[in-house]
Amino acid sequence: MNLVIFALFSPLAASVVNSSTIANSVYPWLILPSTPELPQPQTGKYASINNIQIWYNIYGPSCGVTILFLHGGFGNSDYWGFQVQALKSSYQCIVMDSRGQGRSTSSSSNITYDLMATDVIGLLNYLGITQAYVVGWSDGAIIGLNLAMNYSNRLIALFAFAANYNTSGAKDISLSSVFTAYLARSQIEYEQLNPINDYQSLYNNLTTMWSTLPNWNQTDFAKIPSSIYVWIVDGDHEEAIYRDQPDTMTLWIPQSGELILPRTSHFAFLQDPDTFIAALERFMTQATSYYINQLIVNNSLYSSSSRYGIPCRAPYWSTGRSFFRQICLFFFRFCLYIFFQKLFTSMLM
Ligand SMILES: *[C@@H]1O[C@H](CO)[C@@H](O)[C@H](O)[C@H]1NC(C)=O
Ligand SMILES: *[C@@H]1O[C@H](CO)[C@@H](O)[C@H](O)[C@H]1NC(C)=O
Ligand SMILES: *[C@@H]1O[C@H](CO)[C@@H](O)[C@H](O)[C@H]1NC(C)=O
Ligand SMILES: *[C@@H]1O[C@H](CO)[C@@H](O)[C@H](O)[C@H]1NC(C)=O
Ligand SMILES: *[C@@H]1O[C@H](CO)[C@@H](O)[C@H](O)[C@H]1NC(C)=O
Ligand SMILES: *[C@@H]1O[C@H](CO)[C@@H](O)[C@H](O)[C@H]1NC(C)=O
Repeated sequence: MNLVIFALFSPLAASVVNSSTIANSVYPWLILPSTPELPQPQTGKYASINNIQIWYNIYGPSCGVTILFLHGGFGNSDYWGFQVQALKSSYQCIVMDSRGQGRSTSSSSNITYDLMATDVIGLLNYLGITQAYVVGWSDGAIIGLNLAMNYSNRLIALFAFAANYNTSGAKDISLSSVFTAYLARSQIEYEQLNPINDYQSLYNNLTTMWSTLPNWNQTDFAKIPSSIYVWIVDGDHEEAIYRDQPDTMTLWIPQSGELILPRTSHFAFLQDPDTFIAALERFMTQATSYYINQLIVNNSLYSSSSRYGIPCRAPYWSTGRSFFRQICLFFFRFCLYIFFQKLFTSMLM
């Protein structure tokens, strides 16, 4: 993102912009649907990390595969409401508010992607999670790329939606009514949620960061190992990022794939939640088999299962008793067969 663009938005100007939902276009990418709610319980918890309080919430099973959702700049975890609702029955879904945003506090340190990446690692350590699948939007996707470059052993896969790799990739978002509405709305949400509640300071931090970062090139992307499964994703009507950014990153990460979601923008997860969820489900299936194939090739399918999120305790019948279970099942089915056979013959007579 670019400071020049953001100089057009003072926090004051943002507050007088009509903050109502942009809802009157026939084009879904020109609509900013309401911010969804996270599923219940919405209370969440705080973790002390890097001298700040990071707010997080966990949905779904307490073991197994973990998906960590990272929101975009000025946003908060609520923006993932639809996706968490859909995926929490199959995966452990963790949402966190990035430093200084949503319900999380900040320190006197300037906000950077490097610092936010260390916050994510801090939260994973705090929760005892060795590896996670990361789903990021905008700044969250840039944090995900940062993790893939610098903490690759903590990542199984990355779904990077709407990221840029350098500051030339940012469009003039002041031309976009949807982005303008997002800034106004997210300021109101920030003022309701944040315990520090100093929007001017957050604004200075993020606009300063966006004016210089990220500033990556192909050499930086070469740090992402081929063991990490990556999808580079964006909306076909993206108003904040030039298309060359996802295209180029896909070329620079050889194992990655690119997905351009139809009739959506930087806010695709709100504008077409069903398509976004279907993409995430497909990504999870593909990423999981990519990971398991590596474990098979590495001959470490069983020995390294503890790296696969928080390990689940194996069900009692799978601990070497599967043959016994097969026999029981066979016997049970046989009894059922005899029972129905007797029943039908008695009915016919
Ligand atoms: C970021 O926020 C912190 C805390 O308010 C502040 O001390 C620091 O000066 C800010 N940095 C920038 C670049 O505005
Ligand atoms: C924080 O940002 C401000 C404003 O850009 C800058 O003057 C200051 O040197 C930065 N502090 C650090 C520690 O980088
Ligand atoms: C991660 O790697 C990138 C690309 O080389 C670099 O710019 C950044 O400073 C690194 N961050 C951390 C936290 O090590
Ligand atoms: C961004 O990267 C492109 C090449 O991929 C380069 O032409 C451009 O100068 C870079 N912009 C900055 C600000 O480094
Ligand atoms: C990327 O930038 C670094 C300096 O930040 C430079 O040493 C390296 O050669 C660049 N790589 C490419 C492929 O341009
Ligand atoms: C498989 O082994 C390769 C080479 O040692 C390693 O880079 C990779 O991370 C391993 N993959 C998994 C999923 O353990």
